[in-house]
Amino acid sequence: MRIIMLGAPGAGKGTQAKKIADKYGIPHISTGDIFRANIKAGTELGKKAKAYMDQGALVPDELVVDLVADRVKQPDCEKGYVLDGFPRTIPQAESLDQVLSSMGQEIGFAINVEVPDEHIVRRMSGRRACVGCGATYHVVHAPSKKEGVCDRCGEPLILRDDDKPETVEKRLSVYHEQTQPLIDYYSGKGCLKEVDGTKDMEEVFTDICAILGE
Ligand code: AP5
Ligand code: MG
Repeated sequence: MRIIMLGAPGAGKGTQAKKIADKYGIPHISTGDIFRANIKAGTELGKKAKAYMDQGALVPDELVVDLVADRVKQPDCEKGYVLDGFPRTIPQAESLDQVLSSMGQEIGFAINVEVPDEHIVRRMSGRRACVGCGATYHVVHAPSKKEGVCDRCGEPLILRDDDKPETVEKRLSVYHEQTQPLIDYYSGKGCLKEVDGTKDMEEVFTDICAILGE
């Protein structure tokens, strides 16, 4: 089961990808999480990525394509995976296709989580992310048990640097320009599925499970 999550920043790709990964027992591969882990660890990749991420711009394709190509070849990806935040440009999608076809594989589902822009800015200002394990919360829709503390690992919760309203607007415009064309790309391949991401998280997940089947 090879799945791609599409959708604007804050549409709920990460939220749903984690649920899919748990239910179907496949890895959740988030390029945003990989970059944030590299920033935290102070790696060269992290240093390069941070400059782009803080501005709400995309990290250059060449920094992300090989990383994902290596990841999907790992043994735990044999039964499939859910890709969250990749591909984000047509060239990224084309290189993923090349990697997959060299392994005799293809994407099964590209799930577009649809949320209009006006919802997004509101959602992002309420998101909190754990500095330790990367778990995501929302002050209204998915609060932690104790305010400001991660339920899973006890580390502090923060507002991501790129969730400030001015950066969110930049990310949205980058999304419309560079990532939205992927909807047509996967529609053309016949694997595009759409879900209404403005519904409650559990309802969105039910709709996704109906698409993926048991
Ligand atoms: P990334 O981390 O992928 O960020 P993003 O795409 O901007 O998406 P988000 O993680 O912000 O949102 P999400 O859709 O996962 O929403 P979430 O589930 O958290 O990328 C960050 C940066 O890294 C990029 O800007 C770029 O610079 C770089 N990057 C990453 N991949 C790259 C690539 N392939 N190429 C180039 N650059 C790359 O939900 C949001 C909030 O809403 C949460 O608080 C959640 O609790 C809440 N929520 C979720 N669902 C619902 C619901 N149904 N109802 C109410 N609230 C909800
Ligand atoms: Mg995410």
